[in-house]
Amino acid sequence: MTDLTYTHPTSNSYALYELAKQVIPGGVQGNIKYYDPYPLSFASAKGAWLKDVDDHDYVDYLLSFGALILGHGHSVVKQAVEEVWDTYGTSSFGVPYPLELTMGKKIKSLYPSIQQVRFTNSGLEATLLAIRLGMAYTEKSSIAKFAGHYHGGHEQVLVSTQPIINDGTHPRQVSESRGLPDYYLDHTIVLPFNDTETSERILRENQDRIGVVILEPLQSGYIPANPQFLQHLRRVTKELGMVLIFDEVKTGFRVRLGGAQELYDIQPDLTSLGKVLGGGFPIGAVGGRKDILEMTAPRPNAPHDVVFHSGTFNGNPMSLLSGLRTIEFLQDGDHYGMLLKMTENLRQEVERLGKRYGLPIKTVGEGSIFNLVFVNEQEGNGARPWDIVAAEQSADHRRLRGQLDFLLMEHGVFSKPYNRFSLSLAHDEKAIQHTLDAFEKSFAALIKRG
Ligand SMILES: Cc1ncc(COP(=O)(O)O)c(C=O)c1O
Repeated sequence: MTDLTYTHPTSNSYALYELAKQVIPGGVQGNIKYYDPYPLSFASAKGAWLKDVDDHDYVDYLLSFGALILGHGHSVVKQAVEEVWDTYGTSSFGVPYPLELTMGKKIKSLYPSIQQVRFTNSGLEATLLAIRLGMAYTEKSSIAKFAGHYHGGHEQVLVSTQPIINDGTHPRQVSESRGLPDYYLDHTIVLPFNDTETSERILRENQDRIGVVILEPLQSGYIPANPQFLQHLRRVTKELGMVLIFDEVKTGFRVRLGGAQELYDIQPDLTSLGKVLGGGFPIGAVGGRKDILEMTAPRPNAPHDVVFHSGTFNGNPMSLLSGLRTIEFLQDGDHYGMLLKMTENLRQEVERLGKRYGLPIKTVGEGSIFNLVFVNEQEGNGARPWDIVAAEQSADHRRLRGQLDFLLMEHGVFSKPYNRFSLSLAHDEKAIQHTLDAFEKSFAALIKRG
């Protein structure tokens, strides 16, 4: 429990939380969805806006954890849902149909590293399959992941997902859940993000057992990899025969249409996608090298000699068509350019306002995702770039950012406390102006509190 609390009326959210707790553990459908003192409950959404159960409106920067790149209830998505009923007459075939091929080709056209693709129902399932493919391909026993990187809630990757400050040593393997057999800690090696030397040393020391290296190319979707670090990781994994997986569930279609791999111009062996890909409906996908993906192709004469993958709703038309129409809309005219420009402008304006109020606030991110960090004035001067993870763990940042997020909620801006900001094409001038007004009022209140 922190001492942070709402500064606007939220009694209906509180009452609902108290009731929900009787039926739903912690009142939430996932641990990441909880925050102290209790999460807000929402009644409806439209475009860039959310309405809570106390009738308070917010510009939404959580956007279902980044999934809704067109905002809530976009006409393109609504039409896609209608089109599914009109064209197919069902929400799930459960067996092959032509749209799977169309969507597969669309993904291939945007992600040159992807030669073949399989759909799943979530990002979690996508990283699960990608890792299984990599392990089968290399016939090794362990994976390597980076400290602070989240790949969904399955056993192999629920290790050291909390950011830790890199001190140049081997990061500890920390279990993030009870019920995780020791096996997974023993078979998940943790590397320090953006530390080329230490990562390479650990990979070489464990080269006989590591088959897969998985990472978020931008940690938590907004902390960029150093390009040389990523290029080096690509070279070393290739040399050591390890399968490199870019988990682009957050960054896919968001930092660039072609994901972080377009931004960095690096081709991983496998990519996991999700969120935006479903246009607001559940989805995940694994794409990559044909020789690896082919291992999931059924072999009726040798049914056990395959990488097993299946799922009742894999590739269902609601998710695929909503996602396809969303991507087409992003590609239409200058829509995507507008989204990136709008994000950049918002970042600049927030930093400018921060400066005006004497607050050391910086924005960090790429494309349509960013986060806000309070930086110690002494850092970042001269040659040494400031360390985002360290800055985020400083007492000053935790205190100021926490207070800011609750003030922003009071003034009608929501991102979930401490969370990154994601933008959508529904964030029009009115929403952005409302956001800047909210920042201004919140900064003024922060200063007043001292
Ligand atoms: C990088 C990354 N990988 C995997 C996942 C899991 O995706 P899902 O929540 O769709 O299972 C997430 C979810 O936030 C994610 O950010």
